[in-house]
Amino acid sequence: MSYLTEFHECVKDLSTSETVLQMDEFIQHGDITTLEHVVAVAYTSFVVAKKTGANARLAARGAMMHDLYLYDWHIKDWSQRPPLTHGFTHPATAAKNAEKYFTPTKEEVKIIRSHMWPLTPFHIPTSWEALIVTLSDKYCATNETLGIYDDSKQRKTIKKYLKQIRKK
Ligand SMILES: [Fe+2]
Ligand SMILES: [Fe+2]
Repeated sequence: MSYLTEFHECVKDLSTSETVLQMDEFIQHGDITTLEHVVAVAYTSFVVAKKTGANARLAARGAMMHDLYLYDWHIKDWSQRPPLTHGFTHPATAAKNAEKYFTPTKEEVKIIRSHMWPLTPFHIPTSWEALIVTLSDKYCATNETLGIYDDSKQRKTIKKYLKQIRKK
């Protein structure tokens, strides 16, 4: 079984849901939607967890919900703008939405809450999987911001997966 097929088996209830697909309407960095970012972080976390003997399913599922805040943080209209503290508050918003729309495990919620650490000093990653997700998020976000992700092999894999879930 390919990594992508195995990944899909672990997250398909989330990745094909209306709620997660809604993230395709919000921009993360440049022309990358929050959905694409989330899939990139989830797949990266899955592969790293597999290679290091961590729980790949847990890492992938936590990462799939890590930015489930469901608003555009670039809005120029100040009256509609989310709090300027987006970086600090969105893990709590994402965790709340995850609990509203899905039934995440305690470990999955902890992954969501600690993914911005050390920006959220009281939410320290307490599992290998949480550490993998917070590092994968920083790695992906940096590559997206610097344009390294744009024509990468990684993006081709992610695009392939997005095509698969957007159809459903
Ligand atoms: Fe985030
Ligand atoms: Fe993120």
